[in-house]
Amino acid sequence: MKLIIDDANIDQIKTIYEYYPVDGVTTNPTILAKSKRAPYEVLREIRGFIGGQAELHVQVVARTAAGMMEDAHRIVKELGENTFVKVPSVPEGFKAMMALNREGIAVTATAIYTPMQAFLAAKCGAAYAAPYINRIDNMGYNGIQVAKNIHDIFRNNGLKTQVLAASFKNSQQLLELCEYGVGASTVSPDVIQVLVKNQAIDSAVEAFIHDFEGLTGSGKTMSDC
Ligand code: G3P
Repeated sequence: MKLIIDDANIDQIKTIYEYYPVDGVTTNPTILAKSKRAPYEVLREIRGFIGGQAELHVQVVARTAAGMMEDAHRIVKELGENTFVKVPSVPEGFKAMMALNREGIAVTATAIYTPMQAFLAAKCGAAYAAPYINRIDNMGYNGIQVAKNIHDIFRNNGLKTQVLAASFKNSQQLLELCEYGVGASTVSPDVIQVLVKNQAIDSAVEAFIHDFEGLTGSGKTMSDC
């Protein structure tokens, strides 16, 4: 499972890249709005930092298929290869997805709440389909189960599309999809940072250091004992 950062804050992205093995960045219009900066200025900065080989997912905003196509062309022109154009999984979006697929532009189908949205997006040629785990949970359904169903639908129908699960609020949600082997998950920096936040882990590491310093002296490590 790829692990992707769901944020546009460059400082947060730099911190996560420094400490965690991540595969790229996803954004959406709401995330960009939080930056209070010009969208392409922020996105070019992110692309410059993560490099041309990492995945960058950027969403169209237009309501019509024609407008989505124009948005997509500008997004790809500005941000280059390995940029995935996020398109909402609605009728105008499906029309745009099919046209983008014919042009060879990589699509991430987004705003997915139901397996049938994902199935149709996959048949349109989307590379990824993004179910919103926590938002589905908040509607009274089971977001993890929906993501698993979508993964199974793709595999059982010979569709190459991968699940890119989004909207996580805790590490248990991520763990379940990791165990299931979905293609990717995109997670906010604060949730990534709690994935290994565990007092038992910290205590174990501290005990090793304490015991070693008892042997060699305070502040001593394997490089200077
Ligand atoms: O892009 C979709 C995803 O980022 C939504 O996450 O936390 O706003 O539900 P959230």
